[in-house]
Amino acid sequence: MSNALQRDLTRLVARIEREDGPRAAADPYRQRFHLMPPVGWMNDPNGLCRCGEWYHVFYQYGPFDPTGGVKHWGHYRSRDLLHWEQLPPMLYPDQPWDIHGVYSGSALVEDGTMYLYYTGNVKFSGDYDYITNGRGHNTALAVTRDGVTVSSNELLMENRDYPDDLTCHVRDPKVWAQDGKYYMVLGARTRQDRGELLVYESADKRHWQHINTLTTAEPFGYMWECPDLFCLDGQWFLICSPQGVTQQGHRYQNIYSCGWFPLAGDFRGDYALGSFHELDCGFDFYAPQTFLDGGRRLMIGWMGMPDADYGNPTVENGWQHCMTVPCEIRREGERILRLPAAEIGALRQGPVEPARAQVFDLECRTEASGRLVIRGAAVIEWDTQQLSLTLAQGGAGRTVRYADGDGVRTLRILADVSSLEIFINGGAQVMTTRYYPDPTACGVQIEGAEAEIWAMGALQIQ
Ligand code: FRU
Repeated sequence: MSNALQRDLTRLVARIEREDGPRAAADPYRQRFHLMPPVGWMNDPNGLCRCGEWYHVFYQYGPFDPTGGVKHWGHYRSRDLLHWEQLPPMLYPDQPWDIHGVYSGSALVEDGTMYLYYTGNVKFSGDYDYITNGRGHNTALAVTRDGVTVSSNELLMENRDYPDDLTCHVRDPKVWAQDGKYYMVLGARTRQDRGELLVYESADKRHWQHINTLTTAEPFGYMWECPDLFCLDGQWFLICSPQGVTQQGHRYQNIYSCGWFPLAGDFRGDYALGSFHELDCGFDFYAPQTFLDGGRRLMIGWMGMPDADYGNPTVENGWQHCMTVPCEIRREGERILRLPAAEIGALRQGPVEPARAQVFDLECRTEASGRLVIRGAAVIEWDTQQLSLTLAQGGAGRTVRYADGDGVRTLRILADVSSLEIFINGGAQVMTTRYYPDPTACGVQIEGAEAEIWAMGALQIQ
């Protein structure tokens, strides 16, 4: 299935990757063990799944513009989460219902076929506010049998099919199969500027019926992006990225938030959402998606933050943003713990002296208070009440973030060339950030901790 626009875009994307790829690849801040766009812009992970022997990571890809541009679904696949193959985009903005962007969505895998549900973005030209008018957010389904090319693409729902009290902002379908039926959640913004989730049910993957709406008793932000709803070890969790939540002390420090509600009852009927917990307290974590991989649930997030007042110097070399490492999430009561997937451990090359560490995996038990200084650029300090991450130089506008808690007992830090993922107390809290130290700087100064540090190898990307 292809049309002339897709044929042109296919050639243009391949050409820009060929022409601009080398400059991006030579950037001193290119990461070693995180997935990045070959050129241009990356945001949300999409369609994460395991299909047969392959893991697929699709992502919001703006190949023509490192500051955004019209979104495609970029595509990586891997058999082991370590060796990756870069494939041509799976979805191009080439249909009347997605002409201004193939927005985020998810994959349902059945009998070796991948059903890719996504939002087609259409912006009409004219004098519109693009919130209550001027925008189409269409739910579409693309099917791929070989996992590389699309065999069909169809429009399933458009704005007039959604409940009446909504703005045009209805997007990011997450779909799964359960009890012989299919379920979809969509993030939505109401006309009263409240964030909520629409729950749809289908018997055939194509015809969908709105069966419930999930929201909080009190308003919580004006829009809930990128929803995910799943049962982890007997407890249901609703993950979303709410916009418009006001900062309270050290909570909701970023412009947009991202976290989970425990859900009691049945999402199809009577339910109650518990209190919201943030998934990350760093500068750069948004729009994560989870998927089942046999018995474990993996999560990948976008290591970025939309509309932030800090930036990334990589734009100068024609690319921006990356994914987090794949993490396994586990349940502890009504909380989610997040730690790097076991595979990441295979990238450890050997112990490295603190003074020589640059790209590393660090594990430590901590004393009641202490401090780590990484490559002269990032300062992590903790005591019995909080941990702070300060980026003095090299923050590209990032200053300080806090994780409040009842003390730090263990830390694991994945430090790539230009990012830090800090897992506190076995993944009970996580802080994710990009940072831009002097490219030649190395060394970790450690006070108040016994640390083991391993140098990290690189993902193999073909
Ligand atoms: C979240 C988001 C989604 C949307 C996509 C567009 O970062 O705004 O809601 O589908 O990005 O790129």
